[in-house]
Amino acid sequence: MATATERYNKLLHQSPRYTVNGLWYPGSAERHEKIREFPIRSDDITVACYPKSGTHWVERILHFVTSDEDLDNVKHYPSIPMEVSPPNLPKTSLDLLEESPSPRVISTHLPFELCPREIQEGKSKIILVIRNPKDVAVSHFYFHKKIKSIGSFTDFAWQDFFEVFFSPDTLPYGSWFSHTKKWLQHRNDPNLLLVKFEDLKTDLTNGVSRIAEFLGRPVSGNRAAAIAAKCQFDNMKKEGESEDREVDNIGISVFMRKGQVGDWKSHFTVAQNEMFDEVYQREMGDTDLAIQFET
Ligand code: A3P
Repeated sequence: MATATERYNKLLHQSPRYTVNGLWYPGSAERHEKIREFPIRSDDITVACYPKSGTHWVERILHFVTSDEDLDNVKHYPSIPMEVSPPNLPKTSLDLLEESPSPRVISTHLPFELCPREIQEGKSKIILVIRNPKDVAVSHFYFHKKIKSIGSFTDFAWQDFFEVFFSPDTLPYGSWFSHTKKWLQHRNDPNLLLVKFEDLKTDLTNGVSRIAEFLGRPVSGNRAAAIAAKCQFDNMKKEGESEDREVDNIGISVFMRKGQVGDWKSHFTVAQNEMFDEVYQREMGDTDLAIQFET
């Protein structure tokens, strides 16, 4: 009987891959060369995070914060991580970015050292989004089940994905732990703001204000509250469903599942949780990252 990682590899073997130091990233080597030299504009904003950490949520906040329009008229540009190109899209994510008006929101799940050279040189402001890895794992599991072009994960069970989550050379982007630790080395860079998913859940208006101030575009308390209302899970899901943002034949709603903190509790067994805590302590114990795992 094949192991979960073997089955996972088989399901994903057709995706174009770029392998560095034993870890793989979506996209061909050619695309990654383009990414390295991709021209960054000085008012670009990069959203960097491990997949399933709230990329679309923060992007949406950024679209509102960077616009002076009435909130109902704010345009949301299609945003796909720059390294990813869904097979059924006529244009690549880099083409779409090139066509987008400034200020652009660039999203990526790449580690810092694989980001465009000019981002590494500090040309863009960066919002680093971190979410507790237990919820990331559960969110990732369901995402695989929904996105058909990734593979047919119908028979993949939660316990299979749990095993894969701890197999860094199997998962795209490697492990949450090393990805997060590497990004945290840039935590005090003046052009980077760390935003935690759980903090947004606790006080979205405050999160919006913090992001706006960091970008040098402070918003009034009323506007921050109005943006927060637009970006609440239910509103975003409803509006997303009616927008023309088709990815993989499914609208943005595919990225909106439950949006909760602590959903992992209805998936993890006691043994899985103990094992996870042990790894978390071993991997992250030396960092001063305070992560909220439940409400
Ligand atoms: P769940 O699968 O736990 O629901 P990404 O955009 O990086 O792919 O992340 C997707 C996760 O962010 C999903 O988590 C999704 O529901 C959550 N999310 C997206 N928008 C949200 C919002 N407005 N409020 C809370 N969670 C949100």
